[in-house]
Amino acid sequence: MSIREDWLNTITCGDCFELMRELPDESVDLVLTDPPYGIDYQSNRRTARQKLPKFANDVSLDWVPDWVDEIHRVLKNDSHFYCFTRYDTYPVFYTEIARRFDVKNCLIWVKNNHGSGDLNGSYAPQYEMIVFGAKGKRHLNGKRDSDVLPYDNVPSAQRFHATQKPVELLRVIVEKSTAPANIVLDPFAGTGSAGLACKAASHHDGDGGERNYVLFELNPEFVLKAREGGLGRQGELLHVPRNYSLLAKPKDRPALRARRYLARKDQTLWLALD
Ligand SMILES: C[S@@+](CC[C@H](N)C(=O)[O-])C[C@H]1O[C@@H](n2cnc3c(N)ncnc32)[C@H](O)[C@@H]1O
Repeated sequence: MSIREDWLNTITCGDCFELMRELPDESVDLVLTDPPYGIDYQSNRRTARQKLPKFANDVSLDWVPDWVDEIHRVLKNDSHFYCFTRYDTYPVFYTEIARRFDVKNCLIWVKNNHGSGDLNGSYAPQYEMIVFGAKGKRHLNGKRDSDVLPYDNVPSAQRFHATQKPVELLRVIVEKSTAPANIVLDPFAGTGSAGLACKAASHHDGDGGERNYVLFELNPEFVLKAREGGLGRQGELLHVPRNYSLLAKPKDRPALRARRYLARKDQTLWLALD
């Protein structure tokens, strides 16, 4: 059995806990993901118009053990798993990932700027942690790199998502842990940065090999942003739905606006747009 053709190299709107069950055993070559933090995160950063939205499954981490089991099931033997986390949720993610994987490192992404937090009572947060685990044995590509990764954060003005990750950082990770034609899974895709990183790796790596990706995202707003914003500004980097021109001009299309509203109330309806 192989991965559904219509899930390849696009972002699919839905609940990854359900969708992952449809992925065959040992069907992906890398999992690179940035899960909800379990801390009810609300960014204080603003776009030009409004605060960036909160996201789902961010109030508890009860789902982590079963989810790690699923990640282990869908990964091929001799593959890698990268999972973003932060200092206060690291113990949960580390413990569960170490239960199924050989944890090789805690990578530290050092940003060029810092977040806000408790302005008077805490140090300014300027890094994130990435649990790096292996299923079986897989060598990292290229030269030996440090476990400290200094990469610029996405500038606020270009951010669609409160925790949007820089494509350049993800590209390097994809290049370290995949070969041409491999499939990368991000079950918590947000605005699709991991998919953009796969595309960037395919062009940058010089081996001419495409990296494929499977992206799941629960929130239809982020799926739309991934398709409109990511696509529009970065060229042909994500799947273009057949009705893309409708999606791009919702104000001219009252019927579409109605469907968008319905999609907010019942996310499954959003699937009808594809
Ligand atoms: C930390 S963010 C990922 C941001 C992403 N790395 C980016 O660069 O845009 C986690 C995402 O997981 C999504 N999410 C939460 N629960 C989910 C679920 N059950 N299935 C799929 N996505 C989910 C949230 O809507 C949120 O966008």
